[in-house]
This record gives sequence, structure tokens and C-alpha cells, in this order.
Amino acid sequence: MAKLHLITYGCQMNEYDSERVAGLLRERQYELTDEVAEADVVLVNTCAIREKAEDKVFSKLGELKRLKAGKPEMIIGVMGCMAQLHQETILRRAPQVDLVFGSPAIARVGELVERARRHERPLLETGEAPLVKITAKPPSTERLKAFVTVMEGCEKHCTFCVVPRTRGRERSHPPAAIVAEVEELVAGGCREVTLLGQTVNAYGRDLTPPTDLAELFARVNDVAGLERIRFTTSNPYNLTPPLIAAMRDVPKVCEWFHLPLQSGSDRMLERMNRGYTRARYLDLIAALRDVEPAMAFSTDIIVGFPGETEADFAETVEVIEQVGYDNVFVFRYSRRPGAPAADMPEQVSDDVKADRNRRLLEVVERVTGARSARLAGRTMEVLVDGVSRRNPGELAGRTRCNRVVNFDGQGQVAVGDIVEVRVTDALPHSLRGTLATPEEAVCWSK
Ligand code: 5AD
Repeated sequence: MAKLHLITYGCQMNEYDSERVAGLLRERQYELTDEVAEADVVLVNTCAIREKAEDKVFSKLGELKRLKAGKPEMIIGVMGCMAQLHQETILRRAPQVDLVFGSPAIARVGELVERARRHERPLLETGEAPLVKITAKPPSTERLKAFVTVMEGCEKHCTFCVVPRTRGRERSHPPAAIVAEVEELVAGGCREVTLLGQTVNAYGRDLTPPTDLAELFARVNDVAGLERIRFTTSNPYNLTPPLIAAMRDVPKVCEWFHLPLQSGSDRMLERMNRGYTRARYLDLIAALRDVEPAMAFSTDIIVGFPGETEADFAETVEVIEQVGYDNVFVFRYSRRPGAPAADMPEQVSDDVKADRNRRLLEVVERVTGARSARLAGRTMEVLVDGVSRRNPGELAGRTRCNRVVNFDGQGQVAVGDIVEVRVTDALPHSLRGTLATPEEAVCWSK
């Protein structure tokens, strides 16, 4: 058997794609290895969202070049968003690369790798192709939690973002194919799925007949043996009343919502082309809390977008405090050639971005810490997913609101169980607890 080494950068969809690639190549007698030096084929799955992500890939390709110098038959492939976006640039800057292919070509990875091994190089495959659901099983199918891609692409054209150019137009997988994939995962022991899409709540608009994420939730909810449904990432623009109602009505959908805000300033939101105002965003949060008071929110923020003033930044801080997020991912604006904001006037200096980043993280610590503190004393439903990282004598799991909980209970419960845990300590980044007694278990379940 030939050996394959996979290096994955970026988002959950890339992780998912890498698994499909491993599955497809396994069908062609490639086995995965953790040892890059042993590999016949090395594939680097790339991310283009920020400049730092791209720098990492080029430095990794430099390492691989040295390795290949001592092993000329080794095939180096670059896949994913950078492949789609940069194509020739990759081959020019990294001539050791044999194969470059974008996400539309993933389904044909077997053939592409074989051709590269027959010295048909360099091979460039970055054209459009219809979306296909790859059914090749990943090498390890037994897992408690899994990602399931339900749609690809994005048509929102936020001015900072490269995704419309890397993942193409919005294309949804048919509900039946998604349900079949979930059923298979559950048969292998999976209890929680995260439905993935760059704008997952735009799901289904392109299908005939059209459908939506709320309807998909209902179908996936019917899969017996599945316990939890999560989904990411949503865009406030497509957040419809049926989806809000589904958060309440579909039991397996967890009380956790990732809803990127990007900025709390209407002026910035307009320049970002986000399609909503601060007031509209806050109305959506209120509507979601109305149907589900226990809802936890997480978000993405960009600091230092072109033209962002101290006053705009202060508005972002305000919204973060107002919403009371459970988790916030803060990014410094990264100028992406080809994305409209790259050419906007009033680019913000690196120093100012770094300063706002640091100040915002302080706010985030305070706000998310306070959210965690509220949970002290509550009894919460936990999906046990392993032993605690810090203390092997303890178990670890996650609440439905996506908080990590470490708790005693070794020997009494097993990985994959759903248990009720009483929270004894609410630390900023994790909860500690103890298995609840039956009386405690009935009082609070989320
Ligand atoms: N610079 C900084 N952050 C960005 N993001 C997307 N594009 C950029 C960029 N050019 C962030 C957004 C998005 C998250 C996945 O990455 O916050 O929600």
C-alpha cells in the first residue's frame, strides 16, 4: 500500500474535506501515515481567509521541499482554498509542488494523484464542477461527533472576504443524501453532528424543490440514535423566522448559535456589505433568546477594518457587552488581494489593529467569564467525550451550549453517554462538576 500524509489548515469544512480525500484514496490503496517522511504522497489542505494562514502554507511547503530533495518520488499536492485562489502563484513560488487542485476537484483526487505519480506534472485542476456528495468512508468511521457538509459556497460578497472566490456559488446537497450520511455515522456510534456550510442558514434555496435549514433540522432530528445537532456558520442576513422557530421546536438542535457580528458599527457593517444593521442584529438575538432563554451565542469580530475609528470600535465593544456572548473569535483585518476592501482608503495600521485586538480580548474575557459564572450550581446535560485533559482521573464532555465540563464519574459512565452534571465551579474557560443525583437532574437540563 502507498502512504498518504495529510496536512489540514483552516476551517471545519477543510477538516471534513480532508477526511473525504483520505476515504477516496483509501479506496485506491493509500493508507494514512502520521510520519511525513514515510509518505509517498503529501497533500496540504489550505486556507486563504487571512494572510497568516497563507504564510503558514508557504512555510510548510518550504519544509516539504527539503524533504523531497532526499526523496524525489514524493508527490506534493496543494488543495483547498489557496489552491483555488492562487494556482500559478503556488507553482511559481513552490516549484516542488506537483499537483494543485481546488475543492470542486476533490471527488477526482484518486485520478489526479495517480496522474501526478505518472509524472504528469505540474497538474493544475481548479475549474468549476458540479457539487457531489462523496460517499467514500473516511478511514476511521467510528466517532462520537462528526461534521457533515450540507452546502458549499457563499454569495454574500462581504468586502473583506475571499470565500466567494474560493468556494464558489451557494450549492446545497439534497436532504436525502445528508440524512443518509448522518444515518451511517450514527450506525458507527456518532451521537452529535455539526452541519457545515459557509452560510449554512442559506441552505436549500438552490434546490428543486427549494427547502431550508429548518426543514433539514426536522429530517436530521428523526435519525434514531442521534442526540445532538449543531450547525455553523450562519449569516444574520438569512436568519428567518422559521429557523428561529426551529431552534425551539426541534429537540436535538442545541442551544448554541454562532452568529458572526464582525462589527458593532453600522458604518463599518455598511462598508463590509454585511446586509444588516446593529439594531437588526440585536433584534435577531432577542428573537432567539425569546424562543430559547438558555441560548448561548458565539461570534466573529474583525478589528481594524478600513476606516474603523475609535468610535466604531467602541460600538463593537458595546454590542459584545450587550449580547453577552459565550465565546468570541477576534481577528485583525487582513488585506486580501482581490477582495474589495483591500483597495479601500483609510487602511488601519498594524499597531492600531494589535492594540484593538488586545483591548477587545480583555472585554471578551470579562464577558464570557461572566456568562460562565452564571452556570455555577446548575445541573446540565453533558455528552461524555473522553477523559479530562488536565486530570486523567476525571471525565470530560460538553454541554448543549457547547461548554467544556470536567467532572468526576470514572467507572460510572462511559464515553458517549449523556449524563446530568451539577456544576460546582464555573471557571472562565471550563466548568467543573459532579454527576448529579436523580433529584438534581430534573431541575435544569440545558
Ligand atoms: N481579515 C480578517 N478576518 C477575516 N475573516 C474573514 N475574512 C477576513 C479578513 N480578510 C474572519 C471573519 C469570518 C471568519 C471566519 O474570519 O470574522 O467570520
